[in-house]
Amino acid sequence: MPVQIIVGAQWGDEGKGKIVDHLSEEVDIVARYQGGANAGHTVILPGKRNEKPKQYVLHLIPSGIFHRHVRCVIGNGVVLDPVALMDEIDQLTKAGIRIQGRLLISHNAHLIMPYHKALDSLREQGDQKIGTTGRGIGPAYIDKYMRTGIRVVDLLDRDVLCKKLKRNIEEKNELLKQIYHTEQLDVDAIINEYQEFDKKIDEYITDTSRYLNNALAKKQTILAEGAQGALLDVDHGTYPFVTSSNPTSGGACTGLGIPPTSITSIVGVVKAYSTRVGNGPFPTELNDETGTRLRSIGGEFGATTGRPRRCGWLDIESLRYSIRVNGIQRLAITKLDVLDSFDEIKICTGYFAKGKRMSNFPTDVQTLESVRPILKSYKGWKTPISDVCRYRDLPPQARTYVEGMAELLRTKIWMISVGARRDQTLMLK
Ligand code: GDP
Ligand code: IMO
Ligand code: MG
Repeated sequence: MPVQIIVGAQWGDEGKGKIVDHLSEEVDIVARYQGGANAGHTVILPGKRNEKPKQYVLHLIPSGIFHRHVRCVIGNGVVLDPVALMDEIDQLTKAGIRIQGRLLISHNAHLIMPYHKALDSLREQGDQKIGTTGRGIGPAYIDKYMRTGIRVVDLLDRDVLCKKLKRNIEEKNELLKQIYHTEQLDVDAIINEYQEFDKKIDEYITDTSRYLNNALAKKQTILAEGAQGALLDVDHGTYPFVTSSNPTSGGACTGLGIPPTSITSIVGVVKAYSTRVGNGPFPTELNDETGTRLRSIGGEFGATTGRPRRCGWLDIESLRYSIRVNGIQRLAITKLDVLDSFDEIKICTGYFAKGKRMSNFPTDVQTLESVRPILKSYKGWKTPISDVCRYRDLPPQARTYVEGMAELLRTKIWMISVGARRDQTLMLK
């Protein structure tokens, strides 16, 4: 199976990190294709001897890094914050994870600069707040598409870097002064800081598209790791409450420079209920005690910003759309154990709007904000499932819930995660 894509099918934080880490055992390469340090992918490793399991949150480095045989690629579609990257490399190295010789960074990836972060947070102070992660993602992609961005390869030529940085900082300073009436950025300080990255990052930079295509020619297997989720996709999500890249499966080809014909499998990661961080429509949101319980049992606080995640029931209408747009063939259901203590669990099977049942998922926010979810009720199983190792050993009510989901979505369920650890994963035939 040459290229398998792992996409988040909801609004992010579905548990992609755990699933990618689990599947990495059997692949040669794990490659991130979009987004930046806005992502927070959690992986829990078993403790050595008597130690407790250890949790890692990855923002840029692909979640395959904990498997020694795996090479990790940061593709051209990613916007790379070198400060965040160095921090992540340091932390992993201190924890005994070898990065050298295993990480490859695309020379064509765009860089996130201090002015991108400044502009991101200034933009968020206005009345059209999206609730971004503040990591400079939107402004960095603006520069990419404006064709004024600075790329990883530019770090390797000091003259080019200085020239491009100077021009960019002066332009952004003008914007900060005229539009935001705020402090100016120090041109020399930024140039000095970024000039140093060439030494630190040089060994990782390469033509990753060529590397991946060579790997395919050698019959190696690649797992393409999506960040965020389909409903945050800039083209297919709940615009404007989205991120600025394409987390959907199509983004894997452009974001890695591999051909669509190399894709053999597309897996959608789906949390057994729904969450969303930041603003924007959320038809099944629960602003009541049930939502608070989901948040507290599920530990639903942002892995990047620590913000409380909004919680609600599973939304089949949005998932059908996500499956269609991504071409999802198989599902990995996560966090089923979070529902262990609920008497009743609900699934949204469709929407009502203006007194009629809708036949589709609307992506315009005005309509989506006005829909009323149609809810189907399932009986809870009221017993812990985190130690269950086989699907057939799950309580019957849990199987009914999962099978109900598969039937409504007309998509095969391939994996079920019943806890955050690697071993808490059930594989279905
Ligand atoms: P990602 O961004 O999609 O990788 O997801 P996050 O790491 O942001 O959030 C998922 C959270 O759920 C993390 O804290 C994981 O450790 C945790 N998690 C993943 N799978 C499960 C599961 O099956 N059960 C429980 N209880 N927690 C899980
Ligand atoms: P992972 O990969 C959940 C959300 C933000 C905000 C919107 C735009 O961990 O699933 P941005 O900083 O990208 O401009 O913010 O997107 N968002 C995420 N929500 N998980 C993420 O990543 C997210 N990355 C961005 O909360 O609503
Ligand atoms: Mg996350």
